[in-house]
Amino acid sequence: MKTQDDVHPVVEGTRGLSRREILKLSGFVMAGAALPPLAGCKGGGPAATSDTACLKTIPQKDLEVDIFGPATIGNIRLKNRIIRSATTIHDIDDRGLAGPGLMRTYKETAEGGIGCFITGMKDGGMLLNDFRYRDENAEAFKKVPDLFHSYNVPVLQQISHEGRQEGLGLPTDFRVTNLTPGQIESLIDQYVDATAKCQSLGFDGVQMHCAHGYLLSEFLAPSLDERTDDWGGSTEKRFKTVREIFERARKRVGPDFALWAKINAYDFQDGGMRVEEAAKIARMLQDVGCDCVEISSGIGMDGFATIRVRELPIEAILEWSPRLEGKGDLTRKAMSWILPFMVKTYGPLGSFNVCQAREIKQSVDIPVIVVGGLRTLEDMKNVYRLGAADFVSLGRPLLTEPDFVNKLKTQDGYASQCVECGYCIISLSRMPAECFMGELPV
Ligand SMILES: Cc1cc2nc3c(=O)[nH]c(=O)nc-3n(C[C@H](O)[C@H](O)[C@H](O)COP(=O)(O)O)c2cc1C
Ligand code: SF4
Repeated sequence: MKTQDDVHPVVEGTRGLSRREILKLSGFVMAGAALPPLAGCKGGGPAATSDTACLKTIPQKDLEVDIFGPATIGNIRLKNRIIRSATTIHDIDDRGLAGPGLMRTYKETAEGGIGCFITGMKDGGMLLNDFRYRDENAEAFKKVPDLFHSYNVPVLQQISHEGRQEGLGLPTDFRVTNLTPGQIESLIDQYVDATAKCQSLGFDGVQMHCAHGYLLSEFLAPSLDERTDDWGGSTEKRFKTVREIFERARKRVGPDFALWAKINAYDFQDGGMRVEEAAKIARMLQDVGCDCVEISSGIGMDGFATIRVRELPIEAILEWSPRLEGKGDLTRKAMSWILPFMVKTYGPLGSFNVCQAREIKQSVDIPVIVVGGLRTLEDMKNVYRLGAADFVSLGRPLLTEPDFVNKLKTQDGYASQCVECGYCIISLSRMPAECFMGELPV
């Protein structure tokens, strides 16, 4: 008979720990950094790929594209087509107000040449499972949109409930599958209330986070929503929560306030999200009044999929994983051996959602943004040459260099200095995100 050790060989130093305990030790989940599933997933569906083949077929390679010229998304005017994608810094106080570090990041990035800014889901007190916003602090919250507007940069607040990826630990017992209809209704109300608050604070719009395995993405992903009632099953039913949020939010804020969504084109789970279904979802979003859709990929359980890394950031995980705090050298050594077997990394590092965005764009008329691995002006121009998206967005390049866009503009052939180490995402479990360039602070 097979023992647990046959299935998951025990590494010296962790003998006596269950697989679950080993997993707990290394636990870290944040926007794409997570552990693989404990058990097999649902089968079916073609395998997920990060196919970038379309990049080899760029028509009109020399076609000049005006990335730095003005553009609009609905009522929002952008000075150029480069958007800061939601990137949580998590420097907020108990009231949800941005700390000095976050305000500095906002200022430097607004000065740095971007066309539009989307806040991180945890930045701004609108995180629904930790809704810190209070009306008594409204004036202080308004400082964020005011700051961006003083640089002529529109700003949207990203709104998200973390769902099963709550906190920075392992996937929790929270499951959309287990929610009562009453709980779903109350969550919808919170999304709508948060949207209305953002409007009253002076934001130009909100982006509903429907990607990366968080609550709305969990509803949309066929491998995660196992409900058999009106909120699960077919694409239409899994879309019901998102539909209700957009319909009710639109009614509340009127036609002029921007309602955007970030969705996954694919994840790496068996029976998970695939681009054909994502295209259908994008179309359904358009039909419920969504003004713009941003294309990303990956969920926490995949590993480093949303955020691609050159190699597994073992050193950073050992340093910052809250589960390893206070653990002895032996356990840490053992973890450094085990982690590569438990946490997957994916390639390619560059332009990894572009070809999928192109497929999705063919299904919608609303503007499409693509994020992920865009590091040079050529990468961005190729997005337009391929007809893959109308706008590009950046996460880490702006963490590394808030003035990256100005550098692209003024220095021919400039490339992002981000070394794809992934330390920023791991550090989030302990401190506000910053760029470490692959080195632990001394
Ligand atoms: C530190 C950090 C925090 C992030 N926080 C968020 C977030 O709050 N919401 C979100 O949608 N994506 C978040 N992301 C993902 C980025 O928006 C982006 O999709 C991803 O980093 C890939 O783009 P890039 O290659 O340009 O970094 C985060 C990424 C990093 C590195
Ligand atoms: S170089 Fe900086 S921004 Fe890029 S992955 Fe590493 S820590 Fe993150």
